[in-house]
Amino acid sequence: MTSTTAQVQVCDHPLVQSLLTKIRDYQLPSGEFRRRAAEMSRFLVYEAMRELSTRPAGVETPIGPARGIALTDYVILAPVLRAGLVLAEAAENLVPNARIYHIGLRRDEETLQAISYYAKLPDALPPESRVYVLDPMLATGGSATAAISLFWNLGVRTIHLVSFVAAPEGIKKVHEKFPQVKIMTGAIDDQLNEFGYIVPGLGDAGDRIFGT
Ligand code: PRP
Ligand code: URA
Repeated sequence: MTSTTAQVQVCDHPLVQSLLTKIRDYQLPSGEFRRRAAEMSRFLVYEAMRELSTRPAGVETPIGPARGIALTDYVILAPVLRAGLVLAEAAENLVPNARIYHIGLRRDEETLQAISYYAKLPDALPPESRVYVLDPMLATGGSATAAISLFWNLGVRTIHLVSFVAAPEGIKKVHEKFPQVKIMTGAIDDQLNEFGYIVPGLGDAGDRIFGT
């Protein structure tokens, strides 16, 4: 894996990079996009979860005792609707006990501001919470920053962001406000265009996964 900085990691695994190349293709049909995006999600989440905390835990095999580990974090998955659902499904299979808090955010096409339409979070979260904000596209960073704020305001300080493609503008915005957040992404692309789309990106992730 290429470590761009301690806080931003680009997953350069050949399987991830070949999947990303496939889903960038504008001719890839929607069903195929979903299938490839789901595969890529599993690998990206797997890499982002490398830092999960553990404790030693013994286990009895049919032959005798063995040393093992148990996960100790209170893992929270926070998919940003809609496109983040593809990452959430993959993450949920890897960490079946994780709590899942869906974050409804829609980008206003004119202002590019993230508008909240759904968030149902508890009043408090345990100190050992580790949050994974899941959103395939980090463009202006408005949606990611809004999602991260929800958990930051509840006292959570261990927060990761997992994306397929990130724009430099989005990374900057997230880290200006939350320098501690660790970003795992498939690529850092060139820039945003005048409509706030990532160039070259992969288009509108929600539309490509679910349809317009
Ligand atoms: C897309 C994408 C991100 C957001 C990124 O969602 O899935 O959530 O845009 O842009 P930003 O970094 O500039 O905020 P969109 O608002 O199109 O909603 P959708 O997933 O429901 O289509
Ligand atoms: N949202 C997307 O789905 N794609 C982009 O390029 C930017 C925002």
